Amino acid sequence: MLTFKNRDILSIKEFTKEEILHVLKVASALKKKPQPKLLDGYVLGSCFFEPSTRTRLSFETAMQRLGGKVIGFADPNVTSTKKGETLYDSIKIISQYADVIAMRHPLEGAARRAAEASEKPIINGGDGANQHPSQTFLDLLSIQETQKKLENLSIAFVGDLKYGRTVHSLAQALCHFNSRVYCVAPEMLQMPEYILDEFKLSRIKFSLHSELEPILPKVDILYMTRIQAERFGDPAEYEKVKNAYVLTAAMLKGVKSNLKILHPLPRVNEVAPDVDATPYAYYFQEAENGLYVREALFGLVLGKF
Ligand code: CP
Repeated sequence: MLTFKNRDILSIKEFTKEEILHVLKVASALKKKPQPKLLDGYVLGSCFFEPSTRTRLSFETAMQRLGGKVIGFADPNVTSTKKGETLYDSIKIISQYADVIAMRHPLEGAARRAAEASEKPIINGGDGANQHPSQTFLDLLSIQETQKKLENLSIAFVGDLKYGRTVHSLAQALCHFNSRVYCVAPEMLQMPEYILDEFKLSRIKFSLHSELEPILPKVDILYMTRIQAERFGDPAEYEKVKNAYVLTAAMLKGVKSNLKILHPLPRVNEVAPDVDATPYAYYFQEAENGLYVREALFGLVLGKF
């Protein structure tokens, strides 16, 4: 028996393989058949303490497309956070107004703290370098729809693997699917040890690399990421690695025909615009899938599926 009603969505680690597949099934169904009245009368609290384009706007659109309404903020400086109110108190109050809360916060663990305060389900839209579980569901949906399966695929994570919360969440989810993982990053931004330990525990084959080009012909999924300037304490350190990987269309000769390039976006320089016109680029469709996945999550935690 799968139970999603009233559940917080804080970390992908809290989901079994069966539960992950169920979310993808519901999202696919909503993609094929919209349900414009499903959440009539429901209210989303959209609480973004850190900048976002895709995550915030797709959560908000998802609620509106299901017939619900949205309250919230995109900038904590317009809230009483500015006057010193704690996250706990703010969320406690907002959860009295909204039926479900989607939030993003720069601090790791903030979504879990919010869940302690909230009377309604919290969906983590990214907490520091920790987790971004709704992104993982849309990444998996994009992999499933392009590869027709999730099992036994080769995937390269490229760029900022140390601070990339989308990388951490997706890497953990892939432990369910017997993936072959290539970690391509400058040494200072390699995959954290705790994720590598999880690969070992799940008997996932993985290897660490600094060069991208030798890996390109090997993979089914190329997961590019931005080197995140905002996570560096020292700007000089960022300058050293900011252009470590720049994928161009010319580099894609000799890749597998089924290769798809994903990227959580935003991109800076790491995927050149000429890649967009290749048959391998899938990052814009991936971002669209965020809508269906977030509709599915609302429907599930509000007990509609
Ligand atoms: N993928 C993602 O989290 O994008 P935003 O930062 O624009 O929300």
